[in-house]
Amino acid sequence: MITLGIETSCDETAVAILRDGHEILASSVYSQVDLHARYGGVVPEIASRDHLKKLPYLVEETLGEAGIGWCDIDLVGVTDGPGLIGPLVVGVSYAKGLSVALGVPFVGVHHLAAHLFAHRLSYPDVPPPFLGLIVSGGHTELVVVKDWDDFRVVGTTRDDAAGEALDKLGRLVGLGYPAGPAIDALARKGNPEAIPFPRPMLGEGFDMSFAGLKTAAVRWLKEHPHPNLSDLCASYLEAIVDVLVDKAIRAARIYELRRIVVVGGVAANTRLREVFPTRAAERGMEVFFPPAELCTDNAAMVAACAHFRFAERGHRDPLSLSPDANLPLEGWGKAAVPEGPDGGG
Ligand code: KG4
Ligand code: ZN
Repeated sequence: MITLGIETSCDETAVAILRDGHEILASSVYSQVDLHARYGGVVPEIASRDHLKKLPYLVEETLGEAGIGWCDIDLVGVTDGPGLIGPLVVGVSYAKGLSVALGVPFVGVHHLAAHLFAHRLSYPDVPPPFLGLIVSGGHTELVVVKDWDDFRVVGTTRDDAAGEALDKLGRLVGLGYPAGPAIDALARKGNPEAIPFPRPMLGEGFDMSFAGLKTAAVRWLKEHPHPNLSDLCASYLEAIVDVLVDKAIRAARIYELRRIVVVGGVAANTRLREVFPTRAAERGMEVFFPPAELCTDNAAMVAACAHFRFAERGHRDPLSLSPDANLPLEGWGKAAVPEGPDGGG
């Protein structure tokens, strides 16, 4: 069974072809980062227009790479939220059009559930239950995953996401956007104990807060206008890593889970991947990270989630499905949308 996955929820246009829900035949990611760079963040209108321009070509290119034709596609999966509404509309509309044209079903996919499916693609033999830590530019969520359609959010950020906190530091010191990879590289050469940044809300429940960290960095930079960038990045990153690791391990303990699955763009971070497994092992827990290319936004994870919903849960979405910029994760995937008269071709 061939699934075509589409991801356009933010500033990456991504397309992937998956065979039988696990074998990635091709996965393409086109990043709009250069288009948004001069604005210091993603401009939704520019993002929508560029998805519209690039998506059809990327689909053709990815089909070619996978060595398959239009008629080989059995299912279309697309991110339908959360994200930027304009970009979501582009992906969902294209997916609906393709589903009608090919006469195949289409399935809407929650972006954060898709991030968790990156784990299923990477470790098919390590199924739920586990504690999921989703860390990206827009989200920081601790999720008890009981099954592939049973998500309970037990902790989240009260303000900035972990990736957002990194991107804000990047903006402060001119590292470009997104700054995660540059901070990752600089931090490897720095001393994580050089600057004692605060560890917000450490030891208090499972919610997190990272906005104060940026304020602390602004204050520190005022007093140290010529910083050692490596030490600054290493210390700032260490504060984020400490909080994420502490909260996840405590949540896993309370919910009696022995496995922690880390996904999302920030899961690509070298320091997090280095520190987490050791600290978890001290508590008798195991930590899993997908390979870096499946951590950041991609469409293979979207296709994997769509395949699961269709093949294992018999779900398909009607053509009336609308994207939802604020789609909640909890409860998603449980209430199957009944197939309407226009049900997906
Ligand atoms: O999951 P993702 O690709 O997109 C969202 O859904 O947000 O995550 C993007 C975030 C950005 O904040 C970026 O700075 C961060 O992931 N990121 C990293 C690394 N690679 C990307 N953060 C730390 N270290 C990295 N190597
Ligand atoms: Zn993402």
